[in-house]
Amino acid sequence: MSASADMERARRLVRGAGRVVALTGAGISAESGVPTFRDAGGLWRNFRPEELATPQAFARDPRTAWEWYDWRRSVLAGCAPNPGHRALARFFLGRGAAGLVTQNVDGLHTRAALEAAAGRAGPESGQAEAAAGPAEAARAALPVELHGAVGRDRCNRCEARFPAEPLGDALPRCDSCGGLRRPDVVLFGESLEGDVLARAYSLAERADLCLVVGTSAVVYPAAAIPLATLEAGGSLIEVNLEDTPLTRSATVALRGAAGEVLPALLD
Ligand code: APR
Repeated sequence: MSASADMERARRLVRGAGRVVALTGAGISAESGVPTFRDAGGLWRNFRPEELATPQAFARDPRTAWEWYDWRRSVLAGCAPNPGHRALARFFLGRGAAGLVTQNVDGLHTRAALEAAAGRAGPESGQAEAAAGPAEAARAALPVELHGAVGRDRCNRCEARFPAEPLGDALPRCDSCGGLRRPDVVLFGESLEGDVLARAYSLAERADLCLVVGTSAVVYPAAAIPLATLEAGGSLIEVNLEDTPLTRSATVALRGAAGEVLPALLD
């Protein structure tokens, strides 16, 4: 089928869907300048995750692990949501029903949601929206963050959360209990937070349509989330530059960059 016929078929699926869930991966942030993990030049081509992104790495050599995450934060500081993030934010805000699930820890979906809600709120917004605050207005477009967010710290001991701060000479410590802080992300070998994963599956099981965008679909349990929609009788649209293990299950596979495909698909 031609690319335009695929796009038209996918647009019909989106228009006809009652509930939509979207699962995104590093590919949606590639056009924002955020390195992916497994592409050429991806993070795991240049660093060994075992040496940096594991609880053992933090226990063995917290300074090196922290310096790597501090470097990732500096890279992200120069990145902004791209048209793919913004199209998804507009889409879920417009539908008023949450459905965005991401594997990414870069916070770009959250920024796109807050910016879209602020744009919608604008000067003519009602007092209620203004009073409720930006997070409330953005709620439908805020992502379920399966792997956490690198822009937050978490205390290793008491689990208190803190906004990220630049790494100083001393390793960051918890303001509450003095424990060592770590980035609030799921490290290799760790389990996802049960309530977060349950929320993602609940969205997927109730969805008529799952959009899978920019993920190699090789890391579980995230890669199983789209299958929950399919098993419940829903459809699957994949947006990627290349085939993945999910492609053969896709109702429509759209080949192209997320920043170009998503506005055409969703706006
Ligand atoms: N538009 C759409 N897809 C893209 C783009 C783009 N502009 N650029 C790259 N891609 C696709 C690649 O073809 C690939 O399929 O995005 C995918 C990126 O795959 P990975 O680098 O493996 O990233 P991801 O799937 O998110 O990794 C999952 O693995 O290391 C862990 O915790 C990490 O959350 C991450 C998880």
